[in-house]
Amino acid sequence: MKQLSASVMCADLLNMEKAVADLEKAGIDYLHVDIMDGSFVPNITLGFDLINAIKKVSNIPLDIHMMVQQPVRFLDSMHLGTEDIVCVHYESDVHVHRTLEQIRKKGCKTGLALNPQTPVSCVQHLSDYTDMLLIMTVSPGFAGQKMFTGALEKTKQARALLDSSGYAHIPIEVDGNISFENGKNLSKCGADIFVLGTSSLFIPGKDMKQSAEEFRAVL
Ligand code: DX5
Ligand code: ZN
Repeated sequence: MKQLSASVMCADLLNMEKAVADLEKAGIDYLHVDIMDGSFVPNITLGFDLINAIKKVSNIPLDIHMMVQQPVRFLDSMHLGTEDIVCVHYESDVHVHRTLEQIRKKGCKTGLALNPQTPVSCVQHLSDYTDMLLIMTVSPGFAGQKMFTGALEKTKQARALLDSSGYAHIPIEVDGNISFENGKNLSKCGADIFVLGTSSLFIPGKDMKQSAEEFRAVL
């Protein structure tokens, strides 16, 4: 089943409780929370206090995208449940296998994220430790960018690799410039979870529930 993950950094930061309630009404499956450190990516946005505050007012599972060096340092800063996903970048940690194990030990689901230039083959040795594969369709760090040209082919390759190696159950998430058009094409290539930001869900003046329904309809 295809799922929608709303990019919280694109929501109204001054009205977060209302934004989360609106996303619940829109039937969103996950809240995608981008955590940055100004080093792994040249930006800083949301933080752990916000994650813990959201957990108090919402039951939507969190999909936490860690764009930080050595993410293992921050696992204890988040109070999470069994349905929440902590997704770490392959490129951010020389011991990413150990980090994925630590996330499971904490009782959460794991995600492995790949930057545009990182080949899909690197997931091969980590599939047993990964509950979701995140294919970045832009270089991470900022909303409002353009999808990189190889994104469709890479998603297709990743789906084929997972399916042929006994990991057909691992969903592929795509993040960055997920417009209606890109979402439709990525869905055909095997993407399962769609991170919706400024390209489709957070459009000034447009109702989020309506956008979410329209997005599901094109998948
Ligand atoms: C970075 C973010 C962005 C963004 C997605 O990891 O997740 O990719 O919020 O939204 P747009 O549609 O602006 O790329
Ligand atoms: Zn993200």
